[in-house]
Amino acid sequence: MSLTEEAHRRRTFAIISHPDAGKTTLTEALLLAGGAIRLAGQVAARGERRRTQSDWMKIERDRGISVASSVMTFEHDGLVFNLLDTPGHEDFSEDTYRTLTAADSAIMVLDAAKGIEPQTLKLFEVCRMRDIPIITFINKMDREAQDPFALLDEIADKLQLDTAPLYWPAASGQRFSGMMDLRSEDFLVFQKGGEAEPGPAKRIKWGANSIAEVMDEMVQEELAEGMELAREALPEFDAEAYREGHMTPIIFGSALRHFGMPELLSALAEFAPSPRPQKAEVSGDPKVIEGDDKEVSGFVFKIQANMDPNHRDRIAFLRLSSGEFKRGMKLKTTGGKLLNVHNPLMFLAQDREITETAYAGDVIGVPNHGALRVGDSLSASGKVQFAGIPNFAPEILRRARIKDPMKQKHLRKALESLAEEGVTQLFRPAIGSDMIVGAVGQLQIEVMIERVAAEYNLEVEFETAPYNVARWIGCDDPKVLEAFLDKNKSATGTDLDGAPVYLAKNAWDVGYAQEKNPDIRFSATKERVV
Ligand code: G4P
Repeated sequence: MSLTEEAHRRRTFAIISHPDAGKTTLTEALLLAGGAIRLAGQVAARGERRRTQSDWMKIERDRGISVASSVMTFEHDGLVFNLLDTPGHEDFSEDTYRTLTAADSAIMVLDAAKGIEPQTLKLFEVCRMRDIPIITFINKMDREAQDPFALLDEIADKLQLDTAPLYWPAASGQRFSGMMDLRSEDFLVFQKGGEAEPGPAKRIKWGANSIAEVMDEMVQEELAEGMELAREALPEFDAEAYREGHMTPIIFGSALRHFGMPELLSALAEFAPSPRPQKAEVSGDPKVIEGDDKEVSGFVFKIQANMDPNHRDRIAFLRLSSGEFKRGMKLKTTGGKLLNVHNPLMFLAQDREITETAYAGDVIGVPNHGALRVGDSLSASGKVQFAGIPNFAPEILRRARIKDPMKQKHLRKALESLAEEGVTQLFRPAIGSDMIVGAVGQLQIEVMIERVAAEYNLEVEFETAPYNVARWIGCDDPKVLEAFLDKNKSATGTDLDGAPVYLAKNAWDVGYAQEKNPDIRFSATKERVV
């Protein structure tokens, strides 16, 4: 297969949703429909229902939430799907943001009874910032749902998106009978009751006598009316508008009952973009990198340490943007670090295995000992630089304290390592030896406590810090910056990369410092420049 064909057959996508909308269930059902996992595996795992293949951390299992993002690759119908798993909890929004930078499209899962929820909205905004096209899956149709028109209106209103239903549901809850394929006028029959079987739904032509066997007259009437109105009132699906992020195709279904999965996969196959061209600089000149460009290039969007507690490993997730990657290849960062990639990992649903080749859109795991960081660009020449992945100023700051003072150094190492992964941020005040950890939410802090204990065998506490706000500071004139840092030793420090930060009690202090020092930039985001 040519390089172009390999790139074109890839679909790299993420699933976004509010917690409880059914992302975990959908992930599992999609993997099953795509042939990536077998039913036997699922049955065996039923005792631990909440634990899908993508969860590996204890805290996730305990709380039934997915906090670490990973990737699952499977081949189906001649296409390669790379499903990027994003944490649903809002405390991990930065992690999600980073993962979405590696996705070419997204599936937005809505609970049919609840519609757009706060976290859906937040994640959608990230997708919009990056022009990521979205397919909407309205889940839990086997439960009492809101009126489909009301749901579509809400999407149009809150997300400013045109909605184009590809299917139209026949009732919901107890009366849910299936959905009409609006393009072919085939009715897809929902199997009520019993064990839900994965696989394509039975199709009946609209108007066929047998339609009466799968729904009563009232549901038929409702469906006919709904379909007619949908056709009149809603725009037809336009693939171009979808790819530009103005329109979302809508599919209804039930992840739990395996209904709508083949349809979702075929929508991804048919409409979702293959690896999108990526903006970059090559030797300082702007260039758009295409998936079938010859040179191998990509960027690191995530680092995960200690995935396997038996091996102290650190894996950088490299999203390939172009070329044919081969095992054993040497890749360079723009900073000149050379990596010999002997054991590139591919992540399957339950396993990871060493891969011989990979193409644009694929995500490979590069084991390393800390040479790679989130946002690093890698390429054969070392000259390709993709736009960085920004850091966001944390919402909460805590001072780390170790119970056993002899272990202070160990703790610093553990916190640095977890900060390199991007679990939290780490700041070092200019005066004293405090370690200040920054996070978006409390749950991240709890994950830290747990991981520091499990992976480093250290008991850490996080207490109120003397600061609550961190801002990166910069200035066009390095001398002015130096003078400012000198004068404000007690309110400044450095981040993990040694970049200067202003540490303040509150936002008012930042405003005041800004007023007094108009030449200094106080910034809530930092693009990592290599
Ligand atoms: P999340 O990852 O988005 O947080 O959601 P998750 O898949 O864990 O699903 C949340 C709950 O919704 C689960 O129920 C799950 O079984 C249920 N669910 C998901 N999809 C469907 C669907 O299509 N129909 C129905 N009726 N329910 C669905 P739970 O009671 O919280 O957990 P469990 O004990 O069933 O695992």
